[in-house]
Amino acid sequence: MDGDMNEGAIVLHSPEDFVGMRAAGQLAARTLDMITPYVQAGVTTGELDDRIHAFMVAQGGVSATIGYRGYEKASCISINHVVCHGIPGDKALKDGDILNIDVTVILDGWFGDTSRMYTVGTPSIKAQNLIDATYESLMLAIKAVRPGATLGDVGHVIQTYAEERRFSVVRDFCGHGIGRTFHAAPNVLHYGRPGHGVVLRPGMFFTIEPMLNIGRPDVKILGDGWTAVTRDRSLSAQFEHMMGVTEDGCEVFTYSPAGLNKPPYKTAG
Ligand code: MF3
Ligand code: CO
Ligand code: CO
Repeated sequence: MDGDMNEGAIVLHSPEDFVGMRAAGQLAARTLDMITPYVQAGVTTGELDDRIHAFMVAQGGVSATIGYRGYEKASCISINHVVCHGIPGDKALKDGDILNIDVTVILDGWFGDTSRMYTVGTPSIKAQNLIDATYESLMLAIKAVRPGATLGDVGHVIQTYAEERRFSVVRDFCGHGIGRTFHAAPNVLHYGRPGHGVVLRPGMFFTIEPMLNIGRPDVKILGDGWTAVTRDRSLSAQFEHMMGVTEDGCEVFTYSPAGLNKPPYKTAG
């Protein structure tokens, strides 16, 4: 998200809330699992979105993005230099493309939000390195989430890992609180200073969703009002997980039950 969500109190959720969020997160993760074998050269992003929407509904969920601020699709599909919020349509995937698919589903009032990268055929080594670094930065950030740590600690982990590998961190979008609402306090920046920012407490629910670029961090929004691209047209990658802070760490709600957390995926192609 790109708004200012640090206004207002951060909700501290109960153990029963974890049950609801677990179910929503797992439905979102299963949606990404389901679409994996369909991510192939020649398929259009609109066709993928149709399957995603049908699956959500068949599983008892509702798309959180359809009707959200005028958005009309059940997913965001962001190819190559598209950073995020790519709108599914007539564009066909081609060999060598890398793409992010981001889904948000509502199940029993709880929002499940997650995204992963996918590859078509064989991506360049540079593209695969970007994907690997983006995934690893998120995993390291998740390891930093525990009571008493700060969101500055979390952002610092991502920034340090990315910049050591000469990738840049997108500043214009951030993770967000989530729960019975889509985008809530706090903002979860993907850069920061250790010890700064919100102090984490048990029951906080939020996403971490770093976007890393091969080139410069600057983005621009296309004329459709949504599609964010790198200004220098360099490749961009993103992964997103949703978690709840526990007494001794965190519970990630959106891990793939099929083990399809990062490409290359054995089932695809
Ligand atoms: N799922 C995105 C996020 O991680 C938000 C997409 S909003 C949309 O916050 F309208 F673009 F779908
Ligand atoms: Co999100
Ligand atoms: Co998302």
